[in-house]
Amino acid sequence: MATLLHVDSSINGANSWSKKVTATFAEEWRKANPEGEYIYRDLGAEPIEHLTAEAYAALNTDPAEHTPEQAEHWKVSGRVHAEVDAADVILLGVPMYNFSIPSTLKSWMDRIATQKYAADADGRSPLSDKKLIVATARGGSYAPGTPRASFEHQEPYLRSFFTFLGLTDDVHFLNTEMTLSHVVPALEQFKHVFDATSEQAHSRARELATAAA
Ligand SMILES: Cc1cc2nc3c(=O)[nH]c(=O)nc-3n(C[C@H](O)[C@H](O)[C@H](O)COP(=O)(O)O)c2cc1C
Repeated sequence: MATLLHVDSSINGANSWSKKVTATFAEEWRKANPEGEYIYRDLGAEPIEHLTAEAYAALNTDPAEHTPEQAEHWKVSGRVHAEVDAADVILLGVPMYNFSIPSTLKSWMDRIATQKYAADADGRSPLSDKKLIVATARGGSYAPGTPRASFEHQEPYLRSFFTFLGLTDDVHFLNTEMTLSHVVPALEQFKHVFDATSEQAHSRARELATAAA
C-alpha cells in the first residue's frame, strides 16, 4: 500500500497558489491509489518549532538515552521522521518568501537533516527510492534569462538539500510564476507568464500523480 506525505507551507490558506497545485496532485494520486495512505501537514497553519540546542541534541541521541526534556522534543521530531519513513511520495507546497523558502518549511527540514538520512559516498540514503514533487509559487519570475534569475534561492537550495539526503532520482519541480500579476498593477502585463506556468504545473501534477500509481 503506497503512502503520500503532503506538506504545505503557505501562510495564504485557500488563496495559496502552491496549495492549489499540491491539491491537484493529491486529489489525482488519491483517486489513482484508493487503498493508499495519505498524511497531511500544513506548516503554515501549524508550524513546527525552530530547533533549540536540546531539540538538536535529541535528534542526535539514541531515544533510549534521552533526558526528559529531549524526550519532549523527540515527540515532534519522531513524528516528522515517522511520516517521512512511511512516505513513498513526498509532496511539498513551497511559496517563495524573500527569494527562498518559508522558515516553517526550514524548521521541518532541520528535523530531517540528520545522519540517519544523510547520503553515503555513493549518494544513497533511506530516502533515495522515494519520489519528491515540489510545487513552488513565486510572485515574480526567476526563469533563466529574466532580470532576477540569480535571486532564485528556492529550487537550487531545495535540490542541494535533498541531494545531501540522497533524494535525487525521482525529483520534480512544478513552478508557478508571476502570481503577483493578479494583485500588483505593474505586473499585470505578465499575467500570460502566470497563465502558462500555472497551467503547466497543474497538468504535470496530474501526469505525475497518475504515473506514481
Ligand atoms: C513574506 C513574503 C515574502 C515574499 N517574498 C517574495 C520574493 O522574494 N519574491 C517573489 O517573487 N515573491 C515573493 N512573495 C510573493 C509570494 O511568493 C507569492 O505571493 C506566492 O504566490 C506565495 O505562494 P502561495 O500563493 O502558495 O502562498 C512574498 C510573499 C510573502 C508573503
